[in-house]
Amino acid sequence: MGTPFLDSLGRTVTYLRVSVTDRCDMRCVYCMSETMSFLPKAEILTYAELERLCAAFIRSGVTRLRVTGGEPLVRRDVGDFFQAMGKWLHRPGGNGHLDELTVTTNGSRLAEHAGMLAGAGVRRVNISLDSLDSEKFRRITRRGNLDQTLAGVRAARLAGLAIRINTVAMAGVNDDEFDTLLAWCGEIGADLCLIETMPMGETGEDRTDRYLPLSAVRTELSRRWTLEPLAERTGGPACYLRVRETGRKLGLITPMTHNFCESCNRVRLSCTGQLYPCLGDEGATDLRHPLREGASDAELLHLVQSAILRKPKGHDFVIGRRADDPAAMRRHMSVTGG
Ligand code: GTP
Ligand code: 5AD
Ligand code: SF4
Repeated sequence: MGTPFLDSLGRTVTYLRVSVTDRCDMRCVYCMSETMSFLPKAEILTYAELERLCAAFIRSGVTRLRVTGGEPLVRRDVGDFFQAMGKWLHRPGGNGHLDELTVTTNGSRLAEHAGMLAGAGVRRVNISLDSLDSEKFRRITRRGNLDQTLAGVRAARLAGLAIRINTVAMAGVNDDEFDTLLAWCGEIGADLCLIETMPMGETGEDRTDRYLPLSAVRTELSRRWTLEPLAERTGGPACYLRVRETGRKLGLITPMTHNFCESCNRVRLSCTGQLYPCLGDEGATDLRHPLREGASDAELLHLVQSAILRKPKGHDFVIGRRADDPAAMRRHMSVTGG
């Protein structure tokens, strides 16, 4: 196996988030603008290129890979990519393997793809769902259809996939639904993860007024639910609580109030082959041009290692910073899938 990726602060990178497309069939108000334009196909890595880069990461110690977008399941023939990545799961021998292959999806195409995902070796999926009210769901996603996403959730259950529902918490939008969502997740046997809105990219809506600190949400929920802290951390941003009444987990992702950068284990590969060592930083290293110009694996890995050495100490999200602030992050989360 190659040299494991270590950054300048001693953090080992074992987790890769791969965005397979910047496109999405929704336009969530906190994520994209209504008039979002997407990248030309020539700029998007082919599956063969993605597979080559992912293989290099896996041979250097990446053991967990999450497929994201945009919406990953809208890319044509995405099953081929999952099949290829699934071949790395639990592979014996010293030449790299994956312990886990996961996906984050808005669920719109999950009804058609859940079986394929399970067949490729995916065991758990994160599904974004911010409201159980169809009108509100439509307003938040601008073009999503709640029934379609719920059909996706059902298909994922039937395929035996463990489910985590991701809900971006928005003041005055869905903060009256957290009890309902928690109870519903209990009924369907899913975990729920609430996420603080992060200020990334211009979306045409002001997120600063919608920002909701999850510490207050936790206090409020604990009036009605028994929330028991769980020591476990998956190396990811979520801090988990056990909900005694449902037996399921409640995750809280609080980048704005308590970041988790100290234990960060991840980097992101965008669909154009840019490597982003941090979600909250514009710094990126281009791997596509070297790849297309014939770089060897060793040369690509050298670029990756140098990029990881430049991984910032932490992100720089600031509560109340508006998208037109010169210091605001211009990149949309859909570029790297979070
Ligand atoms: P695990 O793979 O279980 O750790 O899941 P996850 O929570 O990382 O994945 P998911 O794709 O469901 O992302 C949920 C939220 O966490 C999204 O809003 C992501 O943008 C956010 N997130 C993921 N990684 C990071 C990170 O390194 N920093 C910050 N600030 N947010 C992150
Ligand atoms: N802040 C927080 N979460 C976001 N997501 C997308 N944009 C943002 C944002 N600005 C969430 C989606 C999905 C996950 C990949 O990231 O809802 O669950
Ligand atoms: Fe699409 Fe996900 Fe962004 Fe919503 S949050 S627009 S579903 S990529």
